[in-house]
Formats: sequence, structure tokens, C-alpha cells
Amino acid sequence: MQVSPTLAVLNHATDLIARGFDVVDFGPGEPDFATPSNVAEAGKSAIDRGFTKYTNASGTRALREAIAARYNKRYGTSLTHEHTIAGNGGKQELFNLMLSMVDKGDEVIIPSPYWVSFPDQVAFAGGKPVFAPALESNRFRITLADVERVATDRTRGIILNSPCNPSGAVIAESELRGIIEWAVGRDMFVVYDETYELFVYDGAHHASAIQWFEEYPESIVVVNSMSKTFAMTGWRLGYAVAHPDLIAAMAKIQGHSTSNPSSIAQAAALEALRGAEIDVQTMYDAYVARRGWLVPAINEIDGIHCEPPDGAFYIFPNVSGAYGKGSIRDSQSFATYLLDEARVAVVPGSAFGADDYVRISYATSMERIREGVKRIDAALAKLG
Ligand SMILES: Cc1ncc(COP(=O)(O)O)c(C=O)c1O
Repeated sequence: MQVSPTLAVLNHATDLIARGFDVVDFGPGEPDFATPSNVAEAGKSAIDRGFTKYTNASGTRALREAIAARYNKRYGTSLTHEHTIAGNGGKQELFNLMLSMVDKGDEVIIPSPYWVSFPDQVAFAGGKPVFAPALESNRFRITLADVERVATDRTRGIILNSPCNPSGAVIAESELRGIIEWAVGRDMFVVYDETYELFVYDGAHHASAIQWFEEYPESIVVVNSMSKTFAMTGWRLGYAVAHPDLIAAMAKIQGHSTSNPSSIAQAAALEALRGAEIDVQTMYDAYVARRGWLVPAINEIDGIHCEPPDGAFYIFPNVSGAYGKGSIRDSQSFATYLLDEARVAVVPGSAFGADDYVRISYATSMERIREGVKRIDAALAKLG
């Protein structure tokens, strides 16, 4: 495994910020909001009452039941705690999953652009990531035809992420059903990462693969997280829902590696899952307003084009119109130019397997978004 060289530009940005430079940071993949106060209080109270010991390695029964209950309530499933596992972020559950499911030489389909950790996790487990390009002309929404095209007799599974980081694309419900039925018919597993589930816009509808779980319990795995929905990135709490046999396999790996996620984070997550989602609505409203301003403003800039993304809190504009100007020849040199010239940090699309684009996170204040767009416009105008 390697640290992606394309992320070097972000390290450079962090370094500049630490040295006191005024950088508009469009890099972060995390909410700029505080954890809701009732959730934070539940964490503090866990410390005060001494809930600070080891728990069951897969998470407390109460938390696992709350995860199951949230799905049962929203989707009418009959999940129990045995269908769930809580770990140190959705990332850990994805990792456990790959180690449980992927054998040497297995191919796993990953739509691209993709979240950076998917390919490395597959490769770490000995598998081979196989990319299925999702087209910009279809607003990066993956289709059954896109994934069918890259399947071989070695394909063992597929990892879907909707809403997608980095493109924001939301998979249409009918397409999701088609992909699941196709995959099940080929005896493949389907991992469905819905970390950004609540952040969908303009009437886009988030369908969850859990809707088909009871039909195909041995094939579908859903991964979710407290990180983005409840602004809890630093608490490190994510979870997976799957067949109890698979959960047991994942639990073995977790039990011998990190054991339980922090008891304090578990107490906070329990409060978040059981409580009202008022703060989530406030965050959502802010994302709607920022996205509503940002997308048209970015499209005003020469050399940049961006379709309105369905979800998440990123835009993924095509910047290839600027390639060939000055020192810019690809997404990395584009990002480097913006950082050097305008003190604006964006993530090169090459990190996500799509070199004509950059990722801009709008998980930052409207004021900083306006300032950043102004700077990008001025820096690109200089190139003529
Ligand atoms: C698509 C996707 N999946 C999973 C994760 C993992 O989040 P965490 O480990 O914080 O739960 C992230 C975080 O950026 C993500 O973007």
C-alpha cells in the first residue's frame, strides 16, 4: 500500500495553513459542524459514569440493536443485533469485509471515480480492483451496463457508494435493483456504502441496498457511518449490516486487531441513533444553500464545467479546459497551481481515478466558499 502521491498537494496545504497562510481549504471530507450537543453530552456522561472499559469487541448489544432498529424503522426490515457490527469508522468495517470476502486473485468491481480507500482495501486482501467508469455525461450515475462491461469469470463482488464520494452521484433505485439482481445471479457479493445517505438534493432519492437484504441476505452488505450524518468524524464510529455469518467473520478480525470501538464513542452514537435529528436538518439546509450558490458560480469560470451533483457535500468539476495553459497539464498540476497562485486547496481527481476533475468540498462556510471561488476565477484568468 502507498500514500497516494496525488494527496501530496493536500499535505502541502496543511503545511501552509500551519505556517499561518490564508488558504481557502476545499479539501476536507468532513462536516464543518460540531457534533450535536446531546450526542457530545452522551459521550461526556459515559466518561463521568465510568463507562470506560472494554465492551463486546463488535460493539455493545444496545448499540448494535439501535443500528438494527434504525434500519427496521426506516425500511421495514427485521434485523437483530446479530446482523450488525460497530467499529472504528465505516472504514474499519469495509476493511474487515474485504479481508473476510476477498481471496487472492478475486476481482472486485469498483465504479470510478471512487473513494480512495476502496481499491487499496481490495488489493490488501489480495484481490484485484477492476474499475467501471461512470460517465460524466450521465452525471457519474453508474448503470448496470457500465458494470456488466467489466465483469469476468473471476469477478467476486462489487462495491457501490451512493451518494458517491467524490462525484456526489446517487444511483437510481431501478438501476440499483438491476445491479443487485445481476450480481446475485452471478454469485457475487454487493457492498453498499451509504455513508452520505441523508445528503441528497434537488429531489434525488436515496435508495438503500438494505431494501433487498431480506431477499438476498447472503449477498448484500451495507456499510454506514456516524461520521458525516452526525458530524462525528473524530469519534470514529461506523457500522455494517450483513448476514450473521459474515458479521461473525468480520468480528473475528476486529476482535484480534482493534477489539471494540471506544466505549465513549459508542455511548455517543447510541444517543445519536436514538435521538431526534434536528441538527442533521440544520446541516442539510446549510449544504443545500452552499451547493445552490457554488455550482452556478463555478460554471461561470472559464475552463471549468460542473453538473449539479445529486448528493454528498462535494462538487466534482471538469477542469480539463485549463489543461495546456501555463504549468497546468493534469489534475495534480491544476491543484498545485491553485495552491501556489491562489492559496486555494482542492483534491486532484487523479486521487479518485478521474484525472480531468478536481474535488471541491463545500463543507466550509459560505464566506470561505465565495472567497475561494473568487480566487480560483482570478488565478485562472491570469492564464488567459
Ligand atoms: C465513501 C466513504 N465511505 C467510508 C468513509 C469512511 O468514513 P469513517 O471511517 O469516518 O466512518 C468515507 C470517509 O470519507 C467515505 O467518504
